[in-house]
Amino acid sequence: MTDSVQSAAVAAVVEEPIDLDVVREIMSHFKPQDFQEAQELILAALQEVNERFGYVSIEAAEVVAEHLGTTATRVYGLLTFYADFRTKPRGKHFMLLCHGMSCYVMGSQRLVQELADTWGIADGETTADGELTVQVVNGCLGVCDRAPFCKIDGEYAGNLTTETLNATLRRVIAGSGSWKDAHH
Ligand code: FES
Repeated sequence: MTDSVQSAAVAAVVEEPIDLDVVREIMSHFKPQDFQEAQELILAALQEVNERFGYVSIEAAEVVAEHLGTTATRVYGLLTFYADFRTKPRGKHFMLLCHGMSCYVMGSQRLVQELADTWGIADGETTADGELTVQVVNGCLGVCDRAPFCKIDGEYAGNLTTETLNATLRRVIAGSGSWKDAHH
C-alpha cells in the first residue's frame, strides 16, 4: 500500500494544498452590504485567491461561496468560465505561449503541436512530472516583432522554433544555465 502511494506521488503533479484559513482571512476583507453586492464581489474574491496561490481549489471556492452567501456551484461556474483562473496548481515552471495573430502567422501552432508531441501537454496542462505548466494565450503578449513569442518564469523568448523551444524548456527545467543563453 505504501509503495503504491509513493509511486503514485512521484508521477503526480506536485500539489500544494491551499490554506483555507488564509482564504478566510482574505474573505474577511470582503464585506458586502447586500446580496447584489455579494454577487458582484465574487470575481474580485476569486482573483485575490488566485493571485495568492496561483489557483483556486474547489475547497477555496466553497469558502468564497459561504462568505458571500452564494452557492459553490455558482462560484465554481465563474471560476471555470474565465480563462484567467486556474483550478489546479501550476507545475514548477510556468509558460505563457502566445497564440495571438502575429504569433499564429509566424507558426505558434507548430509550437503548440510540439508541446503536445514532445511534452504531452495542451493548454492549461502540466507535465506528468509536475515540472511544466503551459497556458496558451490567444490575446497578444505585446511583442509581435519577436513572434512567435513566449514567457516562462518571468523571462521572455522570441523568434521561437520547435528546436529553440525544446532547448530552452530543457534548460529551464534542468535549472542549468540561464534561460537567455539559448537566445544569444
Ligand atoms: S501576437 Fe504574439 S506577441 Fe503579439
